[in-house]
Amino acid sequence: MTTQAGKKPKKNFPSKTPKHGARYVAAHGVREVLVDGTPLDLALSGQALFAQLERRDRAFARLIAATVFRRMGQIDKVLAPFIKKTPTDYAQAVLRTGAAQILFLDTPAYAAVNGSVALLRRSKKTAHMAGMANAVLRRVTEQGKDLLSKTTTLDNIPDWLQLSWTKSYGAEACQKMADILILEPPLDLTTKPNISGPRGDMLPGDTIRLAKAGDVRELAGYKEGGWWVQDVSAALPIRLLVNSLGCLKNKRVLDMCAAPGGKTLQLAAEGAFVTALDKNEDRLKRVRENLERTGLSATLAFGDALKWRDPENKNGRGFDIVILDTPCTATGTYRRRPDVLHNKKPADIDSLVRIQEKLLLAAARHVAPGGTLIYCTCSLQMQEGEEQITKFMLNRTDFRHNSLLGIEDLGVAESVTSEGILRVLPHFMHEKGGMDGFFVAMLSCS
Ligand SMILES: C[S@@+](CC[C@H](N)C(=O)[O-])C[C@H]1O[C@@H](n2cnc3c(N)ncnc32)[C@H](O)[C@@H]1O
Repeated sequence: MTTQAGKKPKKNFPSKTPKHGARYVAAHGVREVLVDGTPLDLALSGQALFAQLERRDRAFARLIAATVFRRMGQIDKVLAPFIKKTPTDYAQAVLRTGAAQILFLDTPAYAAVNGSVALLRRSKKTAHMAGMANAVLRRVTEQGKDLLSKTTTLDNIPDWLQLSWTKSYGAEACQKMADILILEPPLDLTTKPNISGPRGDMLPGDTIRLAKAGDVRELAGYKEGGWWVQDVSAALPIRLLVNSLGCLKNKRVLDMCAAPGGKTLQLAAEGAFVTALDKNEDRLKRVRENLERTGLSATLAFGDALKWRDPENKNGRGFDIVILDTPCTATGTYRRRPDVLHNKKPADIDSLVRIQEKLLLAAARHVAPGGTLIYCTCSLQMQEGEEQITKFMLNRTDFRHNSLLGIEDLGVAESVTSEGILRVLPHFMHEKGGMDGFFVAMLSCS
């Protein structure tokens, strides 16, 4: 990561111009996502200046950067006619963040142009590009809306993903998936069974949907721990499990890639004895914090799932239920994390597919005879979902697809294949704000 986390920015921004600070953080964050593949959250919060910004300026920085990633194809099409020479990565990030403000954020044009130009003037290394940025962004101010009208939301989906999604789900679905990308997603909360949360839209499966994501710590009931943040899709695997198997009370469950713990919390709230395993210590800490806040309990295990042995498994029997919510490209989460569309490459899929294959075999080893294995992923790429399960089932005749019961209650019955595999896409529930793309297979061990 090239952002100098922990180091002071060279010059502090005068407090009279706080928006400059937000623009600086946004432009550096955008550059870092694209050059180093850092997730946007980290590329922003890893900058020393970010912590010094007022809360509303941090929100502005996030909004600018997220808008760039929601609209990058359209922004680039508007900028292209005015750029004569390929700019440096940072200058390009400044142009994109400036154009995002002018075209989509209702920032007064003079503020967006002057603010962007000032970012380049700050350093000797970039000052020579300030004149170019001034000229380009002034032309965006004058002609941008016209040029924008000739673009479409599909421009914002990188070509390789358009091809992949069109092949997997069809052109119409791909267009709808592009249409939902440009919208700010709502905030979903999962509640403990029979506990109410803040007032919002009730979605099938007891998710509360709030129209606007704000600071969750300020929402009613946060301290009491009756709910946690979890997209309606991410909650589906455990809801399917409960509907299909009935009560989970006292079941021994292994949540094999558990952090930050959404599914562990759901399982613990259903009365299961959960072992939450993850190989990332910082992320595992978040599971602990979430358990503490919600007053739920689970056994935390730090380790690599490929090597982990269950210390409790004295009789060699295994777990009643194993959940593998596998590490993946996370392309299905692009409504909340639009940067995933731009910091992932086709080669990332190949290496993840190999890891997922090994994790799935490792997960299968922990399932007790008669037990259940759930494989799920928030990737939209079929190689990480459907194709993984097809390969697994070819070699493992001791597993069969479980019939999914009570699926109608979850509002996704039409998304289940004849084999009992669930695949939801981001534009489903479009009128309510969509849902993360998700894949779930539930298998039984003989
Ligand atoms: C998709 S996230 C899991 C989300 C989680 N199940 C939830 O519902 O909140 C994938 C997790 O897998 C973990 N992970 C990746 N490789 C792993 C491995 N070999 N062993 C254990 N955990 C791993 C990552 O640290 C990450 O926390």
